[in-house]
Amino acid sequence: MKTKHMTIGVAMADFYGSHPNAWRSEETNPLTYINIDEQIKYAKIAENGGLDYIFMPDRVFLHLGFTGIVNFPIDSIVQLSAIAAHTKHIGLIPTLSTSFNEPYTIARQLRALDLISKGRVGWQVVPSFEPDAFANYGQSVPNSRDKYERLHEVVQITQALWGSWKKEAGEPNQETGVFLNNEYIQPINLQGKYVGARGPLQAPPSPQGQPILVMPAASNSGIQPAGMYADAIIGMPNTIEESVRLREIFRSAAEDAGRNADEIKFMTFFTFGLGKTRREALDRRRAMENPEDLPGRLRHLSMLLGVPLSESAVDEPLTSNQLRALQQNPHVNKSTQAIRLAKEGYSPLDIIAHGVLDNTPGVVGTAEDVADYLQEWFEAGAADSFVIIADRLSDALSDFVNQVIPVLQERGLRPENYMGNTLRENMNLDYQLGVDPRILNESDQIK
Ligand SMILES: Cc1cc2nc3c(=O)[nH]c(=O)nc-3n(C[C@H](O)[C@H](O)[C@H](O)COP(=O)(O)O)c2cc1C
Repeated sequence: MKTKHMTIGVAMADFYGSHPNAWRSEETNPLTYINIDEQIKYAKIAENGGLDYIFMPDRVFLHLGFTGIVNFPIDSIVQLSAIAAHTKHIGLIPTLSTSFNEPYTIARQLRALDLISKGRVGWQVVPSFEPDAFANYGQSVPNSRDKYERLHEVVQITQALWGSWKKEAGEPNQETGVFLNNEYIQPINLQGKYVGARGPLQAPPSPQGQPILVMPAASNSGIQPAGMYADAIIGMPNTIEESVRLREIFRSAAEDAGRNADEIKFMTFFTFGLGKTRREALDRRRAMENPEDLPGRLRHLSMLLGVPLSESAVDEPLTSNQLRALQQNPHVNKSTQAIRLAKEGYSPLDIIAHGVLDNTPGVVGTAEDVADYLQEWFEAGAADSFVIIADRLSDALSDFVNQVIPVLQERGLRPENYMGNTLRENMNLDYQLGVDPRILNESDQIK
């Protein structure tokens, strides 16, 4: 029986880290966003630490982060093909939109990457939502119904294409002179309202059959398709309670689609910064702040605390008047955490250093603090898998694999080695080739 442990992947959205100034640090090569050697270096650090996958969100338009960083500059299939050639175990999860890509192109490109990597690929299936993305394909954003109808068609036809070449077609046999048994490579002849394909696909299945499908916890329209197709869900909950609820929603959606709840793994983002002591971790984060950003950072913090903050007292605990006036802001994440830290006597600079301005939940502290957090979420049923977001990739990723992973291993929460050779094996997911027949009732099926 397989042991139950958490799986862990690393988000590589911009290759610098979640802190707005990560790209300006001395240890960081500012050209990392287009430098594949640097990107391969990070992929190898993650793989040496036994991480299960690299998760690559994507946008198909010029997307600027804080402080003008260009996110997603290089087509992720091309990028991951290079990374695949320099790694052996780590999973590779690019993002492709169902609104702009034809199923034949998706099926063919992802099969190529799955073969190149010997079965380590996933596909984050997104329908896209930003007008800028649609504009690059000469379109405006469709209504949700059309968008999700197209998503259904693209996913089913892509999976059918993957299944159009059965394992039984065999391998080229030099002795008999029979290249393949073509009986097992057959057209699919599917035509929907938006897309279609005749098939068959031009290349055989990978060792894991076909890539795993990851779907985001998007609007309500995304829940039913996720229940049908997703092997994993990526969510952005802020608290354990929210995450438990969200995970349950998708587990029930899988059951509604005729599958088992455990077939859907719930992934959640987690940001971190590390130090040998908590003080060291906070000081490291403080050193990442730039004085010119301070006014904006203080304005953001003051929204969380509900009181004005002065630039002349950033390194002092809040005054008793300020403490009395603290007011939780229900519309801003991490308001509760910021207020708690203020009451504990931390100065505004130290409260910011705790990561309260980060977009996702997380910890700035020691390896044990980080391991405690991951263990608590995992054991509460809030997540099966964590997509870690380093505050600064150039040092935090290696610190995570060298310091946090051993603690998790000691606690029996992480295996000593990769569990298998494919992403499916490492994620504890079954082999799949083609559309799962259990999910197809007459009305959902594309003919
Ligand atoms: C955790 C998470 C990750 C997402 N990643 C991407 C992404 O990489 N690319 C993208 O275009 N959209 C991404 N989305 C957006 C969703 O696919 C979706 O379009 C959005 O949440 C709006 O919902 P709707 O499309 O159902 O209206 C993500 C959403 C979430 C919650």
